[in-house]
Amino acid sequence: MEKSVGQDTDFFGVKAVESADLFGATIKVIHIVDNITQIVALVKYRLAALGQSSHPFHPKVFKLTTQLWYAVFVVPQPQLDASSALPIYRQLYAHFSGLIQTGQMAKGERLPATRELAGTLGLNRTTVAAAYELLESGGFITGQVGRGSFVAVQHPATGSHLLDWTDMLQRSAPALQPPAPGPQLREGVSFATSRPSEQLFPLDALRASCEEVMAGSDFAHILQLGSPSGYEPLRRYLLDAARAENLAAPDDDLIVTNGCQQSLDLLGRVLLRPGDKVVVEDPVYPGLKSLFQAAGAQLIGVPVGADGVEIDQLQAALDHERPRLIVVTSNFQNPTGATLPVGARSALLRAAQAAGVPLVENDAYGDLRYSGEDLPPIKQSTDAGHVILLRSFSKITFPGLRVGWVLGPRALIARLAQSKQLADLHTDQLSQAVLLRFAESGRMAAHRAHMLQAGAERLAAVLAACDRYLPAGSRFTRPRGGMNLWVRLPEPLDAGELLARAHRENVSYLPGKYFAVSRFDPGSLRLSFAGLTPDEIRKGLATLGTIFSNELERTRSNAAMEPAPAMV
Ligand SMILES: Cc1ncc(COP(=O)(O)O)c(C=O)c1O
Repeated sequence: MEKSVGQDTDFFGVKAVESADLFGATIKVIHIVDNITQIVALVKYRLAALGQSSHPFHPKVFKLTTQLWYAVFVVPQPQLDASSALPIYRQLYAHFSGLIQTGQMAKGERLPATRELAGTLGLNRTTVAAAYELLESGGFITGQVGRGSFVAVQHPATGSHLLDWTDMLQRSAPALQPPAPGPQLREGVSFATSRPSEQLFPLDALRASCEEVMAGSDFAHILQLGSPSGYEPLRRYLLDAARAENLAAPDDDLIVTNGCQQSLDLLGRVLLRPGDKVVVEDPVYPGLKSLFQAAGAQLIGVPVGADGVEIDQLQAALDHERPRLIVVTSNFQNPTGATLPVGARSALLRAAQAAGVPLVENDAYGDLRYSGEDLPPIKQSTDAGHVILLRSFSKITFPGLRVGWVLGPRALIARLAQSKQLADLHTDQLSQAVLLRFAESGRMAAHRAHMLQAGAERLAAVLAACDRYLPAGSRFTRPRGGMNLWVRLPEPLDAGELLARAHRENVSYLPGKYFAVSRFDPGSLRLSFAGLTPDEIRKGLATLGTIFSNELERTRSNAAMEPAPAMV
């Protein structure tokens, strides 16, 4: 819509702001536009006429004055669709990120307050807050306590050929995801990422492995394009190891991937269609949740207790939901650290077999047991082809090298290889060859022994520090391996709200909302301890303990001061 009106400064309820004299001209005509293409076209046209190539324009009111124009830019209201599969908070996120990316909201501009916007749109305030959090984690806005949220970046509008990226990206608006892991905090303590410590990387041993690979006769071949199934010597090594562990059935095969994350992605691509139901743990690893949600799958969350996913509830989900796939983590589940006992493993396998549903056993952490006996994987050579086993070198060696694998029925592995070829041709062969050399030389076993010792110390430190520093009434899991434990703070503490305070004290963790499928406890949070030294763990938990205890004290004394309700 573009309208020329007279010299009025008040039209359709929009007040034109103070008169402009950027170029010292009088204003006689006002143009109202309600879409970005029109205003950009106007801007380009007028600037060309003025012999200028750029001009900072404000999204709400744009002033051009030499030819007596006002262009009022009306920021569009979000068009929300309650019947869409995309949750409302993600639609709001797409709306605002689009406005920012297309330059319709400029750096420094204030977003409406959550309460105000929720009122205008008839939404719950937490929905708006979730959208703002997503915008903040994407770097679009920054929140300032007590002042509101402001656009953090400037995306210049680029002219009349501007693509409507809001619309283009609408289909793939991301789910609520934790911020991607960055460099380790220099001074602070981050419990936020499930990864090994760089300080434990055996750099000399890896250097030796690299040099041996580069000096080998196979080096040129490694640098050539390879097979989507993986670097054949590594593939054979892993398959032989699986056979030696009695995991591979005669009709099984193996594909090398870029880690468990890609294995899950490829499985989603070949097994799922939008609308398919997938049974997952609740809480669950966010990388799985976001991935399958983006693929349009419907996640059926089954609660995770001290002994892993609850089998009775999983059976009920199989009976009532008729899912297409089940995904569980048998050892040291992320985020809870829980491990499925042997009996539950057998029960799970029987349930999957009886229901005729494939079971993905994600074993990203199985190599990291610090005490007790290793438990047999659910995947056994005797299984009739129901179990698909995912493993990875990420947690036990170097997550940056991105090498994992899938063991499962040959027909499935062949389809995964086709899908992998479409995705990225194949996993980087230098990483595969170096990790193979690292393993065959015995260096990986030596490194693992070191990791287990360091992991045991770190686990002991985090458990002792939780006992010592968390406020009374807190509960936490006691894993025997892996990288994570799960904390539930006493009511009414909200781990999401308290995170900002922890950040101000240079400590970080991930609140439970990132892991929730359909059950959310605001007091829950994940502590990833493996990347920190015992001293850092104690220091970080002492800080968190003080924050949590002070807040608990404050809420309790506030509650005590509230007048008792009248007895009527
Ligand atoms: C449960 C789970 N699955 C998969 C992954 C991704 O692992 P990878 O680095 O092998 O892709 C992680 C990483 O944190 C994880 O915790």
